[in-house]
Order: sequence, then C-alpha cells, then structure tokens
Amino acid sequence: MVKNEYLMYPARVEKIQKESFDTKTFKVVFEDKKMAKSFHYKPGQFVELSLLGIGEAPISITSSPSRKEFLEFTIRTMGKLTQAMHQLKPGDRIYIRGPYGNSFPFEEVKGEDLYFITGGIGLPPLRSVINSVFDNREAFGKVKILYGAKTPDELCFKEELNSWQGMTDTEVLLTVDRPDEEWKGNVGVVTTLWDKTDIGPQGIAYVCGPPIMIRFVMEKLMGTGFKGENIYVSLERYMKCGIGKCGHCNIGEKFVCIDGPVFSFTQLKEFPEKERAI
Ligand SMILES: Cc1cc2nc3c(=O)[nH]c(=O)nc-3n(C[C@H](O)[C@H](O)[C@H](O)COP(=O)(O)OP(=O)(O)OC[C@H]3O[C@@H](n4cnc5c(N)ncnc54)[C@H](O)[C@@H]3O)c2cc1C
Ligand code: FES
Repeated sequence: MVKNEYLMYPARVEKIQKESFDTKTFKVVFEDKKMAKSFHYKPGQFVELSLLGIGEAPISITSSPSRKEFLEFTIRTMGKLTQAMHQLKPGDRIYIRGPYGNSFPFEEVKGEDLYFITGGIGLPPLRSVINSVFDNREAFGKVKILYGAKTPDELCFKEELNSWQGMTDTEVLLTVDRPDEEWKGNVGVVTTLWDKTDIGPQGIAYVCGPPIMIRFVMEKLMGTGFKGENIYVSLERYMKCGIGKCGHCNIGEKFVCIDGPVFSFTQLKEFPEKERAI
C-alpha cells in the first residue's frame, strides 16, 4: 500500500500555558493511544500543525522525547493559523503530521560542556534539548543558558528558567532590551552576557533566534575560539510541504525541511551569503 506522506493525526489540546502577550504553550495528546506511544522524535525536529479549514504551519516540538506520551508546542501569533491556535480551549482538536527535519546533536555530545544561546521565540526548540539533557544530567558537562527577550514579559518558560538555574553545574543568564520596574537583571542584547560568565571555547553551542541575533552570536562564538563544527543553528524558512517536495524552503542546494532545520556553522558558511540570511 502506498503511504500517504501528508496524513495528519488528530490530537486534543490538554493544557494551555500563557507565556507572554502573544505566545502560548500547548500540551497536546494524540487521540489514538497507539499513535501517542509510537510517535518518536528527536530534539530540534518540527511538525506540520493544522486546524481544519484554516491552515497549516511548521512548528517546533518544544517537549522532550524523554517525557513521553504528550507533545508541547510554543506558538507566537503571526497569521491565520497561529491566531486561530490562540483561540483554542482545552479539549479542542488539532491535527499533526511529522515529525520532520533533522535534530540537534545529543547522543554524540555526551561528556561535553553545552552552551544554549537564544533570543525570543528561539528558546522553544532548544528547550527540547535542554530538558533531554537535564533528564540525563550526569551524562553531560556544565550547562549554560544565555537567553534574551525584548521585555521581561516576553521571556518564555519563566518558572522553568528558575528551576533550570537550580540544576547541578548549570547557569542561566537572562537579559532584556527594555526592562520594567521589577527587572533586576542584565539589560542589552544577548551577546552582552559574554562579560558575565566564561564561555567555551571547548564545548558545543546551540543557537536559535532571530537572524540578526544569530549573526552577532556567531561572530562572538567564532571570536571566542569555537570551531564551526561545534556550533549548531536552527533556521526558519517559509515552508509548505515540510517533506522536500515543494521547493519553498531551499537554501543553496539544500532544503531546510529535510536537510535542516539544524545546520552546523561549518555547513552554513558553504551556503550563498544572500540566501542564508544570517
Ligand atoms: C522549522 C520551523 C519551526 C518553527 N517553529 C515555530 C514555533 O515553534 N513556534 C512558532 O510560533 N512559530 C514557528 N515557526 C514559524 C511559523 O511556522 C510561521 O510563523 C507560520 O507562518 C505561522 O503560520 P500562520 O498561518 O499563523 O502565519 P502566516 O499567515 O503563514 O504568516 C504570517 C506572516 O509571516 C510571514 N512568514 C511566514 N513564515 C515566515 C518565515 N519562516 N520567515 C519569514 N516570514 C514568514 C508571512 O509572509 C506573513 O507575513 C517555525 C517555522 C519553521 C520553518
Ligand atoms: S517545505 Fe517543501 S521542500 Fe521544504
């Protein structure tokens, strides 16, 4: 029988967590119990998430494969689909196909120090790796999370950031562009956190965020002495099919949906500068 690669599976929204004025995290469970058990994914992968009659969009899985039988997605309102997602209530139905794309290195970096450097809505895909690391804490070296947002409200996973800070050999450094009255932390772009801690040059760096942030973080990491093959970036491109058929997401000769979304900096440098957009 021919397998339908576009087949979507129904899932129910179980819980909705407001992260900020425009971002919510959805915990969902497949309606089919067998599907819930057999849906395997790796940190960094995404799904095509849809609402019938409204649309479909690629969304990163923010939960960790080490925490089974549910999925979490953190979604910022952009257009039709994401605005409709924000109207959902617990019990409502969504559709999922995937998982798609490659993943962040995990097994192969055991024993290494890990640096997660991110901005805004870039934290959700990295959270999948971060919680996988914390669920296997003794297998990795030190962990540093450098996270920036425009305002304190726009920091995602506020409670979890606190709990990560308490993990063994872990440092969480936060910064915002525009502080409010209660903010006592760093003010400035994420690269200003370099002066507050020791970073590399040994270890693995995971980077996700807006293109401008990625560009400046890359410069900093290279300036600190990181090797290009030890820096991993998750890219966003306009996507349609998610499975390498439509050609919407190409960058050089690669498709971000199947060859990415995760690329090492060494790979990125081989792409035409105009197309890599960072
Ligand atoms: C691999 C991957 C993972 C993603 N993970 C998440 C996630 O975890 N959470 C999340 O909130 N979003 C994520 N996105 C982004 C999300 O898929 C898009 O914002 C999507 O377009 C939203 O659909 P929509 O129907 O709400 O908006 P649309 O109506 O499709 O778009 C709204 C506006 O954004 C523009 N646009 C759409 N996509 C892009 C793009 N990639 N780059 C630049 N402009 C764009 C459109 O042209 C339009 O102006 C991810 C994208 C990719 C490729
Ligand atoms: S989204 Fe269709 S080829 Fe990548």
